[in-house]
Amino acid sequence: MPLLGRQDETARLRAWLEEADAGRGRVIAVVGEAGIGKSRLLDELAVLATARGRRILSARSYETERVLAFGPWVDAFRAAGVIDDPEILVELPLVLRRDLARLFPELEDGQRAAALRTNPLAIFTALARLIAVVGARRPLTIVLDDFHWADEMSVRLLAFLARRLSGPATLLAISVRAEELVDAPLLRRTLDELSSEAHLAWTEIGPLSRADTLRLVQQVAASAVSPEAGERFAAQI
Ligand SMILES: Nc1ncnc2c1ncn2[C@@H]1O[C@H](COP(=O)(O)OP(=O)(O)OP(=O)(O)O)[C@@H](O)[C@H]1O
Ligand SMILES: [Mg+2]
Repeated sequence: MPLLGRQDETARLRAWLEEADAGRGRVIAVVGEAGIGKSRLLDELAVLATARGRRILSARSYETERVLAFGPWVDAFRAAGVIDDPEILVELPLVLRRDLARLFPELEDGQRAAALRTNPLAIFTALARLIAVVGARRPLTIVLDDFHWADEMSVRLLAFLARRLSGPATLLAISVRAEELVDAPLLRRTLDELSSEAHLAWTEIGPLSRADTLRLVQQVAASAVSPEAGERFAAQI
């Protein structure tokens, strides 16, 4: 299915990518109700970013995995093959590798990594450094879908990184279900704070236009229904 509508949102994504390429990284929050098209827009961002030669790190959060600290971040680094890339690891000082080994036990070098400390600064710093090392090779676009379900440490890391993205041209995009923000007070506060400091750009997405909805129904229903039935479905949808 091609992307229907969303011209304004896509133009904004392109502008943010251009600014990131010029060295101004930022956090983008795509906010909207369930099913409105947030993930689809993030997919489009990944396509646009890939076309510009960027490396994509992506993951999503799950409501049932909220107990896993740094869950989406760990998944994103693993899925992109960053953690087992010897060329990247060789650039990380030993002390940072030890800190990272608390999240990625495969990095252990004989000494068992300590359990996650209460003070998260060491691990935040190590992850920020990892992002800087990876991003120095190829600009990064990090896409974290369904971030309203992210665990607390993931939200705190987002805030930590958002304030330190200006150097490397990293773009960090999250999607958030508007109605889930009620049950995610830390995320809500974090997003408010970051946007008041101009580290965050919101893009709220609403329903498709009537014309785009009709096109969507026509493409999905294609030959299955008559044009009249298609128009009726579109009006209902
Ligand atoms: N602009 C669009 N053009 C074409 N298809 C779209 C568009 N927006 C959404 N869709 C399709 O509609 C469906 C729902 O969209 P999507 O999964 O992106 O919603 P969402 O906001 O991420 O939902 P959720 O809150 O459940 O995560 C998907 O099949 C998606 O591909
Ligand atoms: Mg989604």
